[in-house]
Amino acid sequence: MKARLLPAGFLLVVASAGQAQAADLTISCGAVGAELQLCQAGVARWEAQSGHSVEVVSTPNSATERLSLYQQILGAQSSDIDVLQIDVVWPGMLAPHLVDLNQYLPTNATQDFFQSIVDNNTVDGRLVAMPWFTDAGVLYYRKDLLDKYGLEVPATWQQLTEAARTVQAGEREAGNSGFWGYVFQGRAYEGLTVNALEWIASYPEGGTIVNDQGDITIDNPQAAQALTLAASWINDISPQGVLNYTEEEARGVFQSGNALFMRNWPYAWDLVQSEQSDIRDNVGVVALPAGGENGQSAAVLGGWNLAVSRYSEHPQLAAELVAFLTSPEEQKRRAIDGSYNPTLPALYQDEEVLAAVPFFGTLYNTFTSAIPRPSAVTGDKYPRVSNAFFNTVHEVLSGNTEAQQGLDGLQSELRRIKGRGW
Ligand code: GLC
Repeated sequence: MKARLLPAGFLLVVASAGQAQAADLTISCGAVGAELQLCQAGVARWEAQSGHSVEVVSTPNSATERLSLYQQILGAQSSDIDVLQIDVVWPGMLAPHLVDLNQYLPTNATQDFFQSIVDNNTVDGRLVAMPWFTDAGVLYYRKDLLDKYGLEVPATWQQLTEAARTVQAGEREAGNSGFWGYVFQGRAYEGLTVNALEWIASYPEGGTIVNDQGDITIDNPQAAQALTLAASWINDISPQGVLNYTEEEARGVFQSGNALFMRNWPYAWDLVQSEQSDIRDNVGVVALPAGGENGQSAAVLGGWNLAVSRYSEHPQLAAELVAFLTSPEEQKRRAIDGSYNPTLPALYQDEEVLAAVPFFGTLYNTFTSAIPRPSAVTGDKYPRVSNAFFNTVHEVLSGNTEAQQGLDGLQSELRRIKGRGW
């Protein structure tokens, strides 16, 4: 009976995971890189400890597709998923569908976590998700190739462009015709919102699309400059195909040795450094470049949290699974085995964590001062704001419109979305 209410996409996910009915709980996890295996391993430990059974279902890699799947599931008030992995930009909009974890967890449950993420996950005084891992954009580069060409790690996007051109030309001449200078996430989805915001916010006064007061700030000359430079990369230092890349496509090109620079999240570190990687030990990670000499590096804040559905039939048990998965032991294991950023500041002092992921130490400030997307101020209109933004940026990158013209149109569209207020 209940199954008939469920959207088709959701049924497919559950069917592929098998025996959803038999388990005590069901959790949805991401599957980018080694994410699913890490989630399954954590869940298996809880099963062994608690004696309960848990079904793990995987979700699409694109955050945008994942959100629409969740909106269908929660909109149908389905009890089939108890624990949901939710993006740092979703608590505001999903809050009505999530339980207040304060009611199920000890009062000090959040005390050791980054307060900013706890605040982000607290909506009208309700703790709607526990911080699981945080994220910030970083620049991966090939140490061996910068050395070979006598180049420095770029401090600005302009320097990145130059270095990428030089090395790309040299490597192609040396016989690797498929070599590119820079890969990033250029598909029209949430990942492009992040990348483009990182370009724009790295320019002085480039802003963050909508400011903290709710004013729309995107139509400014620095934003146009940032997008114009990015558009010049396509078919120059970045393949045309980047317009359809998410995180994993970018990693595929970089990890097979076919790119000098890559923008990605920290999870990629563990994979590019794995035994299977063609570039193991030749990779460096630094903060993203600045927008010109007066700009500053701007990493956008990402990350995922664990929430309990309001429609769960076992909210207490589900909250216990959430507490286990976000515990220091689990976060340490995930940091070491998968380079997932802990949401507990203490783990950034842990020697085993730092040995596995040295840049958790060197880039600590990047992680703690990462720039949030304007999701808090735009509330449940955030997906429309982000969609309008990434679609405009995609048009500019595709060469269908000039940056300035695109931003003019975007400004009006955002005004319409805002209406009388966010
Ligand atoms: C990462 C981030 C998440 C972001 C997504 C975009 O998963 O953690 O916050 O929305 O990338 O692709």
